[in-house]
Amino acid sequence: FAWTDENAAQAEKIIARYPEGRQRSAVMPLLDLAQRQVGAQTGTQGWLPIPVMEYVADCLAMPAIRVVEVATFYTMYNLAPVGKFHVQVCGTTPCMLRGSDAVMATCRARGMAVGQTTPDGMWTLTEVECLGSCATAPMVQINDDNYEDLTPERLDAVLNALAAGTTPEAGTQEPGRHTSEPVGGP
Ligand code: FES
Repeated sequence: FAWTDENAAQAEKIIARYPEGRQRSAVMPLLDLAQRQVGAQTGTQGWLPIPVMEYVADCLAMPAIRVVEVATFYTMYNLAPVGKFHVQVCGTTPCMLRGSDAVMATCRARGMAVGQTTPDGMWTLTEVECLGSCATAPMVQINDDNYEDLTPERLDAVLNALAAGTTPEAGTQEPGRHTSEPVGGP
């Protein structure tokens, strides 16, 4: 693994954001960049094989084990290949109270299993912790997009659209509601 020319320039820019002596702080954006490069080169969502983590460690002159520790802590880093669509269901309390179990059941009913990729390579299902969209719970992140205010029917509609090759509009799936609309309050 080595950066493409474009990503080498991007990596340099990212590292330069951090003060002298603190370059290791760039580990997270560099892991993200590396994962996206692997994705672009394999036509997938990307993942981080050990040699890629070692490469990032070399770029930052830090021990590879420290990079592995970061990559294994955060769910946005994939430690194994994922399918065309990475379905990340939030299972933290606000989403759970608003129906994440039903959302998860909808995924299971379509043949997905947590931690696995469907045999056709289409779907990888992961349960994740809060993704910061609690006000529009329950929500699911699919690849880089959030789908919010889900019900089993709304999620089915999103998944059907993706399977058919179209990308539904991200954000709230509740008709008439806008994600930017203030929620609650007096
Ligand atoms: Fe699900 Fe915060 S609890 S987005």
